[in-house]
Amino acid sequence: MSDYADFINENNAKFFWQPMENPQNAVKKRPDVIAKGEGCWIWDINGHKTFDAVAGLWSSNLGHSNQRIRNAIVEQLDTLPFYNSFRGNTNNKAVELSVELTKLMQPDDVQSVVFCNGGSDAVETALKLARQYWKLQNQGDRTKFISLKQGYHGTHFGGASVNGNINFRRMYEPLLPGCFHVETPWLYRNAFGLDDPIELGKQCAVMLEREIIFQGPDTIAAFIAEPVQGAGGVIVPPENYWPLVREICDKYGILLIADEVITGFGRAGEMFGTRLWNVKADLWCLAKGISAGYLPLGATAVGRKVFDVFMNDTSGRGSIGHGYTYSGHPVAAAAALETFKVMADENIVGNVKTVGAHFNKRLQEFKKYDCVGDVRGIGLMVALELVEDKAKKTTLSKSNNLLSRLARNAYERGLTVRTSGANMILSPPLIATMTDIDYIVDTLHAAFAEIA
Ligand SMILES: Cc1ncc(COP(=O)(O)O)c(C=O)c1O
Repeated sequence: MSDYADFINENNAKFFWQPMENPQNAVKKRPDVIAKGEGCWIWDINGHKTFDAVAGLWSSNLGHSNQRIRNAIVEQLDTLPFYNSFRGNTNNKAVELSVELTKLMQPDDVQSVVFCNGGSDAVETALKLARQYWKLQNQGDRTKFISLKQGYHGTHFGGASVNGNINFRRMYEPLLPGCFHVETPWLYRNAFGLDDPIELGKQCAVMLEREIIFQGPDTIAAFIAEPVQGAGGVIVPPENYWPLVREICDKYGILLIADEVITGFGRAGEMFGTRLWNVKADLWCLAKGISAGYLPLGATAVGRKVFDVFMNDTSGRGSIGHGYTYSGHPVAAAAALETFKVMADENIVGNVKTVGAHFNKRLQEFKKYDCVGDVRGIGLMVALELVEDKAKKTTLSKSNNLLSRLARNAYERGLTVRTSGANMILSPPLIATMTDIDYIVDTLHAAFAEIA
């Protein structure tokens, strides 16, 4: 190993306080340092090569060495590395991106986009726009948010408040007041003992409506959810759920926010997750795949209904007191513009449909292992949920290190996977081929055969 590799390994977690990690653990069990990427493959600092079945973090959708995106970034760096877009300013790449993104979301009736730096920002922006939307209409009582248990919406105070997992909430309480959580339509584990997806979709919609009535419909600003829950363990809702949610939101005049940070830009087999369910949201949170992970970028897409209220405001309160220094960063915008072109030229969404169907089919093979309770997914987002006792669906205990041993074994065999709670999460780049999928599945089988 080189002196440089020694230096990096030595300093790995010494000064770098890593996200979602206890610094005590990071120092004891240092993470692998990834130092190089090419296509779907990554190399750690020691030169060990693995297939990146995490895609960076649901983000490197076009792989790690796309020359077209690289060239677009370099060209923009040589032209204008940065200029802000605060009131009275803008830059041409941000304008271009707003045109292209709005065009891409024409079928969803998107009228405008607000740029930011990532998913948490996009959620924060959506929540704030939702509150302002109501204030502009003199319905200032509409301040509350409803979201789903198990949902993940990033780490800002707004996102943490609507998050449905205690791990991201407890240490930061008290959170935003007026945030309430309802049951997720999660077939494998639901509170109603239902095993018919359509019944479950209906039941969960009823629970949402009951919560709205209980709170007082005219106090609710918005309902926010992921079209397919990602970090919560790839929970795919029944097909009737989102259409029912849209109906309920319309019935009570509540805004619908789709957090598409993972599902946006093709991961679930449609360009946007809401399209899976033939639903139009009012606000969409976008990040990750928007720039294929090449540079930090996020956006909140605004539907016509919301946009019109701001555009037609006569009270003088329509200016948004919100935005970031790097909103509409020209280099990130250049990366996104090229990402859209590559996606169209290479029919990436079509690839996800074909390859994703093969992936989901093959992963069913893992049901044969006693430790695998559930296999679920859609497109190129999949989770294997591990259990202590399959018949009783006993959740894997925190002290059971089976999942981390499996992930380690896979890594040593040349496959990087992600563990989250009791789930092994697989989200390969969207350029993955059938051969890549077979490689992932076969490598995992070898790891399960040895460890499980
Ligand atoms: C659905 C969803 N929303 C928001 C976020 C937060 O995004 P970021 O980590 O870019 O702030 C994530 C991150 O994984 C996410 O999955």
